[in-house]
Amino acid sequence: MPKILLTRQYPALAKDLLVDAGFEVIIWPEPRPMTPEELVENSKKADAILCTITDKITPEFLQQCSHLKVLAQFGVGYDNINVPEATKYGVAVGNTPGVLTDATADTAFALLLAVSRKALHHHKKILAGQWKSFEPNKSLGIELKGKTLGILGLGRIGTEMARRCKGAYAMNILYHNRSKNAAAEKELGARLVSFDELLKESDIVSAHCALTAETKGIFNNEAFAKMKQTAIFINTARGPVHNEEDLHDALVSKKIWGAGLDVTNPEPMSSDNPLLSMENVAIFPHIGSATEEARNGMARLAAENIIGFFKDGIVPNIVNPDYKR
Ligand code: DGY
Repeated sequence: MPKILLTRQYPALAKDLLVDAGFEVIIWPEPRPMTPEELVENSKKADAILCTITDKITPEFLQQCSHLKVLAQFGVGYDNINVPEATKYGVAVGNTPGVLTDATADTAFALLLAVSRKALHHHKKILAGQWKSFEPNKSLGIELKGKTLGILGLGRIGTEMARRCKGAYAMNILYHNRSKNAAAEKELGARLVSFDELLKESDIVSAHCALTAETKGIFNNEAFAKMKQTAIFINTARGPVHNEEDLHDALVSKKIWGAGLDVTNPEPMSSDNPLLSMENVAIFPHIGSATEEARNGMARLAAENIIGFFKDGIVPNIVNPDYKR
């Protein structure tokens, strides 16, 4: 029976499904990710791996582990995997779309509310013993009703964020995508605009795009300078989509009003990062999909990608359908 390496301690459902299907499962026992050397060494003993964002599947790794049949990513994003190289070696890559859509959109929405009301700043103030009295005119937030939301990447998660903002605050929705999203236009009155127009017209700019050569560093000095001075920037996609120094400069020089990040560059963010002590900033440690429901769904889909491959020759959520050599 094929041997499957689980690179982290995923929800038990992943192992249970694989064992029930008759596979031999090897679980990396440590709470930390493997080093690149450990990943190669352990993958050599396996026929497929269930991996995640902390595993760097580089050309060097693939060259040494080209015997692997499947890379089942625990996550919808798979920028840690060099997919063209996996395809070249005939390795199937699967991911886990859909099951984390609500959890991640909730995270973006929570960040937006937290930033607009300086929530984390107020919490830190109490912890520091600085809640002295009711303050009539200090650390005021801003309201969100009727504002314009600009989404970069109006896919599944972007659409859910737009639904929340439209439903709660009757926001106008702008978006920038490679292709038109006719369903969202019909349902939400969303309007496709250029990236420049998105920056200029939006009160909130929320990134929901994949990390690609095109989106890497797209939120830089130049982009922040085009945004409204009252704007809030939200990123729940991937840290490298924004330039963190440029974001800090934009906040300090008041080119934009606030920022909410669930992803940083690098990850983990250092505890002395100056963004962490800013009033109008809220930062979470990449918890977009961190609900019981989403993580169990991800475990199930990742296991099913492996089971599907070995039992039926089909990876239900295949990323590189042309993987066969
Ligand atoms: C995802 O699914 O892409 C999450 O960001 C976790 O990696």
